[in-house]
Amino acid sequence: MQFFLDTAEISEIKSVADFGIVDGVTTNPSLIAKSGRSQADVIREIVEIIDGPISAEVISTDFKGMIEEGKILSKIHKNVTIKIPMTVDGIKALKYFSDNEIKTNVTLVFSCNQALVAAKNGATYVSPFIGRLDDVGFNGSDLISDIKTIYDNYGLTTQILAASIRSPLHIREVALLGCDVATMPYKILLELFKHPLTDIGLEKFLSDHKSSLKK
Ligand code: G3P
Repeated sequence: MQFFLDTAEISEIKSVADFGIVDGVTTNPSLIAKSGRSQADVIREIVEIIDGPISAEVISTDFKGMIEEGKILSKIHKNVTIKIPMTVDGIKALKYFSDNEIKTNVTLVFSCNQALVAAKNGATYVSPFIGRLDDVGFNGSDLISDIKTIYDNYGLTTQILAASIRSPLHIREVALLGCDVATMPYKILLELFKHPLTDIGLEKFLSDHKSSLKK
């Protein structure tokens, strides 16, 4: 499973870049707004740090506007993936980008049918928001499982990108389901390394080593 970092904070991306486990980055208008910078500036910086797919979302909601924005964003770097909302205009724009070999990520996906529609028009990635589904009493991981079954049924090649990840448990769940990608906040990525028994075990190894030197 690929790991993407879900952030527009350059300091976070820089601090994990040399771990070797981050395959890409996703941003969205809320994350860009939080960074206090322009999307173009943020994306230009991210592509220099991570050599992998970097999602940049269009703000326009009409077909023409999405195409114009997407074209500009895709010119920033070959790794820029155009993030498009799951709307009728978005799906029309998706067809344009697919036909022009521009990579895409269809976002705000909450149902199997939305995921099917996006795959039919050649989305590179589809982003089911599992945390937001959990928030309203639906099981987000079940959606990942169902989309995977549907894509497998028809040999659809769109990659499932689990988004809106809220806990390390989400990562475990979607990995067990064979999800292609999970995008996660910085703090969740760091949580993946942790286990209290690792800390206790390491402490014991080091103290035993120290004692052996005194003998
Ligand atoms: O980038 C899309 C998604 O990961 C947003 O997550 O936490 O705002 O639901 P969240």
